[in-house]
Amino acid sequence: MTQAFRPATVLVLKLGFIGFVLACAVVIALARWRMAPPGAGTTAISQPIRFSHQHHAGDDGIDCRYCHTSVEKSRFAGLPSTDICLTCHSQLFRDAPALAPLHESASTGLPIRWNRVHKIPDFAYFDHSIHISKGVACIECHGRVDRMPVLVRVASLEMQWCLACHRSAPQHVGPLSDVFLMQDKRPLSAQEVTQLNRMLHLQSTRRLTDCSTCHR
Ligand code: HEC
Ligand code: HEC
Ligand code: HEC
Ligand code: HEC
Ligand code: HEC
Repeated sequence: MTQAFRPATVLVLKLGFIGFVLACAVVIALARWRMAPPGAGTTAISQPIRFSHQHHAGDDGIDCRYCHTSVEKSRFAGLPSTDICLTCHSQLFRDAPALAPLHESASTGLPIRWNRVHKIPDFAYFDHSIHISKGVACIECHGRVDRMPVLVRVASLEMQWCLACHRSAPQHVGPLSDVFLMQDKRPLSAQEVTQLNRMLHLQSTRRLTDCSTCHR
């Protein structure tokens, strides 16, 4: 029987194959690394105006809904229009250099282009209104925004993060009156928990972790 390949050729082919597999692994690892979201809580994204949640939501106590007007009604919380800022800043700090882009936007009619801090890919379905109506508080997902001079992302927003909460949903809901509060979660009495469960009718863990719930 004659050999199809000489041993040396076989060795070269084998080495070549191993090299190819290694190269693929490196390419995949690099691609994953580049696609991974930047470390939660560490990256402050620059904005056209240095807007401070600490000042507005914390010190001045302005309700989230004053600026994020659609958070209870739609998938998206929405970012404030120039007009909303002007309800106060047409008088207040009118001439502050920090607000120049605001007045420019008012005169040109071009909206301020806020850079997104949170973004999940289009193939995953997220909806604010569902969470708000089931008593999931802003702080559960966005942290103590009232202490952020510059807004940062505190959660990874990865699938495992969504699933971890969906697996233990009853532990992450609270009274609807607490949803917008910037306070660490208060412990609920046994009576409040029973009342809450009766009111919210949470779906089964099976349903909440079903692929089609978030990939529709
Ligand atoms: C006076 C208006 C105002 C109020 C009140 C306000 N925000 Fe904001 N919010 C903004 C603006 C402007 C931005 C975009 C700039 C930035 O990211 O800082 C923003 C951005 C955000 C983002 C990040 C959006 C993204 O790009 O992913 C979150 C989360 C957020 N706000 C949560 C809250 C919560 C929670 C409250 C209530 C405690 C609140 N905000 C109150 C104006 C406001
Ligand atoms: C309900 C009134 C109100 C609204 C609406 C409002 N602001 Fe303010 N803003 C204030 C007050 C009050 C201060 C002073 C903050 C302080 O020192 O506590 C301020 C301060 C500021 C400052 C300078 C000081 C700082 O916080 O660093 C900037 C910049 C600013 N606002 C931008 C905005 C933008 C952009 C919007 C719209 C997204 C907006 N504001 C909406 C009341 C408001
Ligand atoms: C269950 C987790 C969760 C809760 C609760 C939650 N958010 Fe979000 N938020 C997200 C996710 C995830 C995104 C990114 C969504 C996307 O890319 O479509 C986001 C994005 C945002 C944005 C950016 C753009 C937009 O229009 O959606 C704002 C502003 C915001 N959230 C504000 C709020 C406020 C205010 C509350 C409380 C009333 C709140 N969120 C409650 C998870 C949450
Ligand atoms: C802190 C807890 C928490 C986090 C984090 C969270 N969710 Fe939820 N989610 C809930 C609760 C509670 C409900 C309401 C469950 C119910 O109606 O029984 C819900 C409901 C939903 C629903 C509606 C389910 C249905 O069919 O009615 C979708 C879709 C959803 N979440 C997507 C997401 C996605 C995508 C993420 C991650 C980006 C996420 N959620 C992160 C707590 C959370
Ligand atoms: C509670 C919401 C939720 C459920 C349930 C869910 N996913 Fe996801 N999934 C997401 C989100 C959000 C992302 C995007 C996260 C990211 O970019 O890391 C994602 C990303 C993915 C990806 C892209 C690859 C990756 O890991 O980034 C795949 C594949 C996937 N999901 C498959 C599934 C399958 C299969 C199931 C059912 C066993 C499922 N998902 C259930 C929310 C969910």
